[in-house]
This record gives sequence, C-alpha cells and structure tokens, in this order.
Amino acid sequence: LSLRQYNTFGIDVKAKLFAEFNSVTQLQEILQYIQHLAPRIPRMVLGGGSNVLFTGNVQALVLKNGISGIELVKEDEQFVYIKVGAGVNWHSFVQHCVQQGWAGVENLSLIPGNAGASPMQNIGAYGVEIKDVFEELEAYHLTDKTVVTFSATDCAFGYRESVFKRKYKDQFVILTVTYRLRKNPIFHTTYGAINEELEKIGVKELSITAISQAVINIRSSKLPDPKQIGNAGSFFKNPSISKEQYDQLKNEFTSLVAYTNPDGTMKLAAGWLIEQCGWKGYRKGDAGCHAKQALVLVNYGAATGKEIYDLSGEIMLSVKAKFGVELEREVNII
Ligand code: FAD
Ligand code: EPU
Repeated sequence: LSLRQYNTFGIDVKAKLFAEFNSVTQLQEILQYIQHLAPRIPRMVLGGGSNVLFTGNVQALVLKNGISGIELVKEDEQFVYIKVGAGVNWHSFVQHCVQQGWAGVENLSLIPGNAGASPMQNIGAYGVEIKDVFEELEAYHLTDKTVVTFSATDCAFGYRESVFKRKYKDQFVILTVTYRLRKNPIFHTTYGAINEELEKIGVKELSITAISQAVINIRSSKLPDPKQIGNAGSFFKNPSISKEQYDQLKNEFTSLVAYTNPDGTMKLAAGWLIEQCGWKGYRKGDAGCHAKQALVLVNYGAATGKEIYDLSGEIMLSVKAKFGVELEREVNII
C-alpha cells in the first residue's frame, strides 16, 4: 500500500503491511493475526502523518490509529477533564473545546495531526504546550499486551520531547489522552504576534474564540497548507545555547532572534539562522525551503524523502559553519 495520502509531506513510499484500528480490541486482534503471518515484523504507529518523513519503503506493520470519541469524564469547580480518542483530529478537538467554553488549548488551534500524537512531542505553539493542560493518557504496551496509564511526570515532557519519542519509541500505542481544561479561562497572549493580530481583527474583549481565530490567522499567513504543498511543519527544533555563546553571536550578528529559557540559556529562532544562510525560498527539484518560513521544508510534488532529508543535512552543515550552532531535526525520520 502506498503511504502517500497518509503523510502530509506527500512522500510516495510503500508499507509492507498496513492496518487501521478503532479500538484496543481491534488492535489486539490485528496483532494476534500478524503474529501468525509475520511474527518478527516491526510495528509502527501512525496518526495523521503530519510529523513524519519517510525516507524509504516502510518494512513494518503500519498501525493507523483511528480511535474516536471526546468524553467529559470528570469535573470539579475549576476544571473539566476531557478524554479524547487518539484518532480524533487535533484541530476538531480544539474547536469542540472552544465551542464548549473549555479553555486551555485555544493557542494550539490549527496544528495538524491527531490527538494521540499530541503527547509524543508535547506539541506547542504561541506560548502553550500540551503539558500545561495534560492530565493523563492510556497506552497499550505492544509486547506486554497491557494498558498502562501515564501521568505528566511519567511522560517526561520537554520542548518537543517525551518518553514516547525517546525511551519508549515504538513500544506503546497511545489510545486516549485526558486534558484538564478550565471553566474560567486564563488567557495566554504573551506571544507578541497574538496581540498584534487581535488588534488587527478588532477584538475589544478577549475570549478563547478570539485567541483561536488570531492563531488561525497568523498560522495561515505563513505556514504552508499540506493540502497544497507537502510539509511537516517546523523541520528542526529551535536550538538552545549558553548565554556566553549567545552574547558572542549577538555581537557579531546584531539582528539575531532569541528568547531566554527559564534556566537562563538562550533559544534561537532556527528560521532566522536558516534564512541568514540563504536557504529561504530555495528549491532543488521538488524539495525546498518554504519562502515564507525558512524552518519549514517542503515537497512541491514528487520529491523523495531522501531528497528532503539530504537538503536538511545541507542546511544543518551551513548553519553550523556560519554560526557554530547545531540544528536538531524535529520531524520523525522513518
Ligand atoms: P504522526 O505524524 O502520524 O506521528 C508522529 C510520531 O508520533 C510518529 O513517530 C508516530 O509513530 C508517533 N505516533 C503517532 N500517533 C501515535 C500514537 N497514537 N501512539 C504512539 N505513537 C504515535 N507541531 C507542533 O508541536 N506545533 C506546531 O505549531 C506545529 N505546526 C505544524 C504545522 C504544519 C503545517 C504541519 C504539517 C505540522 C505541524 N506540527 C506542529 C507537527 C505536527 O502537526 C504535530 O507533531 C502532530 O502532533 C503530529 O500528529 P500526527 O497525528 O500527524 O502524528
Ligand atoms: N524567522 C525568520 N525567518 C524565517 C522564520 C522565522 O527570521 O524564515 C524569525 C522571525 O524573527 C520570527 C522568529 O523567527 O519572529 C520566530 O518565528 P515563528 O514565530 O514563525 O516561530 P518559530 O520559532 O519558527 C515555533 C514552533 C512552531 C510554532 C511557532 C509558534 C518550533 C520548532 N517551532 O516556530 O511549531 O507554531 O513557534 O509558537 O519550536 C512545528 O513544531 O511544526 C511548528 C510549526
């Protein structure tokens, strides 16, 4: 089966085996069946395919998570606890929350992909990360065949990081995620561009609906729509460096863009570094660097995963050569 329609980069590779499931029972049935057919085949979980780059045919059983449902499981004076199925589209979930007046995920509007992958890299945007509203998740252990509950501490969330991206890679299938959302909102508008956009669209009274709309507008103005141009969002993480290294760089490159981390180190805007190296708008064959956001690599149509990967390598080398800074890929390379 071609995975082309299952990844937002639009890379045309084949999966050795592919199965979609809608419940943990179905997942177990598939695994039991495969046990006889191909007992040693590796397994890979796929959500919306918006954060993967396939660099070749996938010699694995691809398990497409289709678990649905949004359920209010508990509430107290301040919070509602909403359990969402891993296969639910993330933005539909956000829209549902905004409509219900449940606050906490409005800044994360329009992030592609499914709810089940949201803890995988602790998705974040515009001053909020899911760890801020995360209650717990349920995941199926592929070898132990048990369902395990993870707290936020168990997930070891970091910037674009969790145990699922590292230690437990390909070991668990996330089934549901429970979010703790506020009945009375706390607004997060510290991210400069949000305030500007709110003003531009003439918002007088702040609301989660207004923030969601502002975020949608900003994102639509610079991020390529995967339906039109293949991509997986930011290809690299924003790198952190010491204050000393930052001061030296800032001396030399006065327009350097950076933010202070809570621990005093400095997070650099990788998009700025890449743009300064001349890559913004670059195209070689069908692989390219987006013209409006240099952190996003794109597939204009028929690029292979290897071509995109090689381009990312060239970008890393040039950023290292010009600034002495190592970029790290954010997208999952498969
Ligand atoms: P997939 O791409 O299907 O999978 C990603 C990884 O998670 C894979 O390794 C996969 O094996 C694993 N995985 C998926 N589902 C499960 C599961 N149920 N159990 C276990 N493992 C699983 N991300 C941000 O954080 N912030 C942004 O602002 C942002 N903007 C984006 C903008 C665009 C235009 C695009 C294309 C992407 C953007 N992303 C952003 C990246 C992406 O949307 C997120 O990482 C999203 O959470 C990926 O979800 P998915 O369902 O598509 O995951
Ligand atoms: N910039 C440039 N040139 C560029 C791109 C960016 O100079 O081509 C500079 C600009 O000065 C801009 C700054 O970099 O002010 C930051 O850019 P932007 O606000 O677009 O955010 P980002 O740091 O590039 C990060 C996330 C995004 C997230 C936005 C908003 C990472 C790796 N990326 O991007 O997440 O949506 O902030 O919070 O942290 C993703 O993970 O896929 C993703 C899109």
